Amino acid sequence: MNKKLFTLLSLLAVMSLALAACGTPAATEAAPQATEAATEAATEAATEAATEAATGGDSVEVFSWWTGGGEAAGLDAMIVVFNGANPDIEFVNSAVAGGAGTNARAVLATRLQAGDPPDSWQGHAGQELIGTYVAGGQIQPLNDLYEAEGWLEVMPETLIPLISQDGNIYSVPVNIHRANVLWYNPAVLEANGVAVPTTMDEWFAAMDTLQAAGVQPLALGEQWTKMHLLETVLLGSLGSDAYNGLWDGSTDWNSPEVKAALDNFAKVLTYANADSASLSWQDAAQLVINGDAAFNVMGDWAEGYFRELGKTPMTDYGWAPTPGSVGVFQFLSDSFVLAVGAPHPDAAAAWLKTAGSKEGQEAFNPVKGSICARTDCDKSLFGEYLQSAMDDWSSNIVVGSLTHGVVANDSWKTEIDTALGLFVADSNVENFQAALVAACASSGPCK
Ligand code: GAL
Repeated sequence: MNKKLFTLLSLLAVMSLALAACGTPAATEAAPQATEAATEAATEAATEAATEAATGGDSVEVFSWWTGGGEAAGLDAMIVVFNGANPDIEFVNSAVAGGAGTNARAVLATRLQAGDPPDSWQGHAGQELIGTYVAGGQIQPLNDLYEAEGWLEVMPETLIPLISQDGNIYSVPVNIHRANVLWYNPAVLEANGVAVPTTMDEWFAAMDTLQAAGVQPLALGEQWTKMHLLETVLLGSLGSDAYNGLWDGSTDWNSPEVKAALDNFAKVLTYANADSASLSWQDAAQLVINGDAAFNVMGDWAEGYFRELGKTPMTDYGWAPTPGSVGVFQFLSDSFVLAVGAPHPDAAAAWLKTAGSKEGQEAFNPVKGSICARTDCDKSLFGEYLQSAMDDWSSNIVVGSLTHGVVANDSWKTEIDTALGLFVADSNVENFQAALVAACASSGPCK
């Protein structure tokens, strides 16, 4: 018997038991609630069963955190491609709101723990995937799909090791995002005689000028955006080699160089808006677009958002590598996985085929504000900013993002996040550095 139909029949049985129990005095109080809950569940199951019947019976549940601000529009564009190729499969979009997956990943963890996985979910290439989902035995190898679809010929060679373990490939990358982007308002800079900064010192000088003129120099949002800012300041202050060394143990977290980088971070924070904790990444990016702040450091999903708002590149917003990181591309990649115990494995494979396809990626990325993970997408489909990102991706030194899963697994990242939270509250650089040293020792390569 079809699983949904079985659930429906079981719920109907529970309902009739609850109704029968209404007759007995002891059950009179509990029964109405039980009946209500059972009715709701039965209605839900009936609707699902009816939809499945109408669509030929199959569905796929895809979990992400793309719910707005250019992100949902990108996903929708890919869903259109999926629906075109799979008219008989219902796409169940289980996106949970919250930038960088802060809320979604907590919901996902609860579901995985309860043995209730979505068929496929969004995960970042790198340590988030390998050190968390693969280590937890939660996702399936996709080697057969890679072979059948010829993906090894079209996905970047450098990306495959970040989604593989012991010869198994575990996800389908849909894009490449750049983390180290400094977005700015061209009119605000011009009105204040400020040039686009390329070094940390130039940036401080520019922000001093803006501050003296009564302009908010830097727009900042909630905690994860502070970690995002931190990783770009570490990169800009240390340079790419020493930045990479933080993640493989060859750069000493206790060194004077790291202390100097953290001092820079502390100083950058002094130029930010006081209400950062209550702003989403979109709110902070919007301050720049509206001319209420000069700079914002954010990944290039911000470009998808600016475009969704109808803004014009180089007029309403400009971009540059974050100060100190010219010639370096700090990357992350969104990818989709196949759950161990996926309720609809065939439909999930169909979804992954769309996610890895040229058509799917060409529909998704120009809207999302990212470039294709595939190397064969048509460049002319992309706007000015993304074309420049493509050039940089193929010519720059490439390093990984901390906030978006590349360089540290979840436990290490959580410890860094806790240390950052304390630092934001007390501004004590010595304590912050000590906590980062301890984090590397307990969860990183300094063990
Ligand atoms: C990142 C994700 C991006 C974008 C961003 C903001 O973690 O990789 O695709 O969604 O969060 O929500």
